[in-house]
Amino acid sequence: MLQRPRRNRKSEVIRQMVQETYVSAANLIFPLFIVDGENQKSEVSSMPGIFRYSVDHLLREVESCMNLGLKSFDLFPNIDESLKDKMATESYREESLYLRAIREVKKEFPEACVITDVAMDPYSSDGHDGIVENGEILNDATLEVLGQMALAHARAGADIIAPSDMMDGRVGYIRQVLDQHGYSGVSIMSYSAKYASAFYGPFRDALNSAPKFGDKKTYQMNPANQREALIEADLDEQEGADFLMVKPALPYLDVIKLLKDNTELPIAAYNVSGEYAMIKAAIQKGWLNEQRVITEVLTSIRRAGATAILTYHAKEVLQNKWL
Ligand code: PBG
Repeated sequence: MLQRPRRNRKSEVIRQMVQETYVSAANLIFPLFIVDGENQKSEVSSMPGIFRYSVDHLLREVESCMNLGLKSFDLFPNIDESLKDKMATESYREESLYLRAIREVKKEFPEACVITDVAMDPYSSDGHDGIVENGEILNDATLEVLGQMALAHARAGADIIAPSDMMDGRVGYIRQVLDQHGYSGVSIMSYSAKYASAFYGPFRDALNSAPKFGDKKTYQMNPANQREALIEADLDEQEGADFLMVKPALPYLDVIKLLKDNTELPIAAYNVSGEYAMIKAAIQKGWLNEQRVITEVLTSIRRAGATAILTYHAKEVLQNKWL
């Protein structure tokens, strides 16, 4: 045999020499859940190790991440039911929990990268990402709400706006609103290929944001489709997105690879709540080795072509020095 691939695996030094893919702190984005009040820290029952923080605790959590070299955060609010309405007006109210949180984080940690989620669901009394009329999700009317929300985030200091709603034309609309108001430097990370996935369940527990009726299949993508992701990606790129995102990550590695091969933009992948819950549950049962399985998951997402990974594992991998 002339070719013996095992020769390149014979020692730790050689294995490391030929290693093709790495994950580093710089690639990781940590999603954080926030809740109103003071001195609040409650664990999400379906996501062991992940908490909802009041703003005071949020600042301490951001600080401890910054000290580990984890500097990018995606914030998500848990909104009291009494503040929700059909038009999600709480999403751009100046003194809202979310806008306060963005301002406080940027004030205390100006060098942190704050990513904000643009979609109506956490603020909507219908639990949908768009305006609901007679059981339908209105596209173009929703864009106006998303534009107001994105502008409020930019004013509060967001570095990157991440529309996760899947309405048509929202990237272009948000880009135009931001530019018209002097925020041409604020980036857009578009959830381009966001699938109607069962893996978002624990996230909806964390935010109490599940749809009150029906499902999200008229706007989020059919999990059976790959080519359709190219249509979404092309549109987002033409409309001015700075990053394209694929979500969820692990069940959609083929889509990450497909987009990577078809765009020059950086690809982000969202290793979602259900992926986290599944792994933590198996670890708690003693069925999987924690360090090995988590680093394998993150490495695989990078290998498929993701530049950045949004993951609930971000802090623990750095704290435990697993990378
Ligand atoms: C809201 C949004 C969702 C997630 C991120 N932004 C849920 C949904 O679309 O229902 C899911 C993230 C996760 O599961 O970790 N538009």
